[in-house]
Amino acid sequence: MASPIAIASIMKGQAALVTGAGSGIGRGLALELAGRGVAVTIADINPESAAQVAAEIEALGGQAASVACDVADSSQQLAAFRLHMQRFGRLDYALLNAGVGNTFDAIWGPMDSWQKTISINLTAVVEGVRMATRCMVAGSPDAEAPPPAGDGARSSTGSDSTAGGTGGVILVVSSLAGVYPLSTGPAYSSTKAAALQLVRCFAQPLMAQGVRIAALCPSMTLTPMVEKWQKDEPEVVAALMASAPGNRMLTVAEITKAGMTLLTDSSKVGSVLVVYQNGSWLEPRTEFSPVAMDGEARGGGTKAAALPTAQQQATHDSVPPTGCCLPFFRRCPRVANDPHSTRIG
Ligand SMILES: NC(=O)c1ccc[n+]([C@@H]2O[C@H](COP(=O)([O-])OP(=O)(O)OC[C@H]3O[C@@H](n4cnc5c(N)ncnc54)[C@H](O)[C@@H]3O)[C@@H](O)[C@H]2O)c1
Repeated sequence: MASPIAIASIMKGQAALVTGAGSGIGRGLALELAGRGVAVTIADINPESAAQVAAEIEALGGQAASVACDVADSSQQLAAFRLHMQRFGRLDYALLNAGVGNTFDAIWGPMDSWQKTISINLTAVVEGVRMATRCMVAGSPDAEAPPPAGDGARSSTGSDSTAGGTGGVILVVSSLAGVYPLSTGPAYSSTKAAALQLVRCFAQPLMAQGVRIAALCPSMTLTPMVEKWQKDEPEVVAALMASAPGNRMLTVAEITKAGMTLLTDSSKVGSVLVVYQNGSWLEPRTEFSPVAMDGEARGGGTKAAALPTAQQQATHDSVPPTGCCLPFFRRCPRVANDPHSTRIG
């Protein structure tokens, strides 16, 4: 990977749009990008907080625009991308971070809470990927088709400007609850799981167009969202924290560091980076899936899945057991000894 100084100089003159950047993780990433010379559009449902973060960036000598945008309304998200392109003329990074957490009763509670969660945490992410890709490949969120071969973007670092777009990186902010089931928040957990699976599905087709996509899955991080949750349901948060390795809230700075790694490391294609409660990182890799999507496995066989590298295994094993270990990791002694897991192969 390039050094931080080299990365800062590559990033200077580039541009980013961050949804939900008026607060918490989105704000942290927006400030970090601005500090590296990236012009940032702050899109948030709350216009005051969006304007405040943009003003903070400008006060520090950076370039920023703010826009009121409810991502659940596709016309508002489109307007935010249009404003960004008019203002800065290029999109190198799109951070699809806006999201809502909730713990309503999905069996007896109202279905409209379910629909609302899907609109914000999932549908808006697909729409954001579509709009960002159009900007990065064809130079406009309104483009109807990619530019003819040879004309468009082919660089996911955004370093060479072309007639169409500049290429770029899309970062989707999912959650640990997208990797493991959060039984107190089924709508949240399901939408976050779907969002990270989208990232894996889109990885190759987008890369072929010069766009790299990755997902960030934070554990509980001290942001205004979690502060409110702590106030509303202290016993739920306390129970989650008590069972979490490390038993401490992550900081926005820790999540920003992980997010910047995904934004700057060009090897992270379709990567899903999980930041555990004790601060350690792990990337569950899709090829660890017990049913490999090739050769004999397609016929229902039990072809062995690829094993994790020594480094991945070490990272994984450094996380204290909590009973929520990834079943993908066939070599994990916790899985092997778990009477509820089936050993494959
Ligand atoms: N904080 C955590 O523990 C945690 C853990 C895992 C994942 N996440 C995810 O990180 C992302 C950011 O969360 P956060 O903790 O920083 O929360 P936060 O509440 O501090 O910030 C979220 C921002 O998104 C904005 N927002 C909410 N709904 C929006 C909408 N419909 N359109 C546009 N903007 C909207 C809010 O106004 C707010 O400024 C979310 O997707 C969340 O699910 C957070």
